[in-house]
Amino acid sequence: MRIDVVTIFPPFFDVLEVSLLGKARGSGLLDVRVHDLRSHAHDRHRTVDDTPYGGGAGMVMKPEPWGAALDEIAADATAAPVFVFPSPAGEVFTQATARALSTEQHLVFGCGRYEGIDERVFDYASTLGQVRLLSLGDYVLNGGEVASMAMIEAIGRLIPGVVGNPESLVEESHEAGLLEYPSYTKPASWRGRDVPDVLLSGHHGRVAQWRHDQQVERTRTRRPDLLDG
Ligand code: ADE
Repeated sequence: MRIDVVTIFPPFFDVLEVSLLGKARGSGLLDVRVHDLRSHAHDRHRTVDDTPYGGGAGMVMKPEPWGAALDEIAADATAAPVFVFPSPAGEVFTQATARALSTEQHLVFGCGRYEGIDERVFDYASTLGQVRLLSLGDYVLNGGEVASMAMIEAIGRLIPGVVGNPESLVEESHEAGLLEYPSYTKPASWRGRDVPDVLLSGHHGRVAQWRHDQQVERTRTRRPDLLDG
């Protein structure tokens, strides 16, 4: 999969060099290219923002540098990309969204800052590929960088070959619509706290039943919204 990122803070994405995604880049499963939006701003101060029409607090990202950045990426793409703009005003990004995006060949993440990006940029991007405005959740971050990182990790680990043991993807929270069951490792007793007996029983059927009961109970108490319907 190819992933382009457009940002005014390229160093945010340096961490993509470590861990599983770093390995995936090394092995060619993931081709990540980070672009500095300011390289498409040509005034002396490399300005990427301006005051909002209609007034109001804060600054809005100007359309021209975005247009140039998206054109450059699209010109060098083999197929129409999917453009993802992280935004608290977007649809909620879920495991289902991650799974759908993990089958795409080319994603482009556009990281907004300030009060957001001039709205016309999204419409223009839709002439180059599909556009998704996606929110991590009901809270506000300072910009799209951290949200993009989270989405890239959630999507990247679903690409076949990125996670060593594909079975570890199956039992996870959200894949089955339930939260994950609790996990324990040795020692069997630690600081007066014992591992539940059933896990030491060697009885696979009872272990599976216990884990399922734990998933249902956790989901009921922590995330009852997941059980609705
Ligand atoms: N940018 C700012 N806040 C965000 C959020 N909650 N999700 C995605 N992008 C954002």
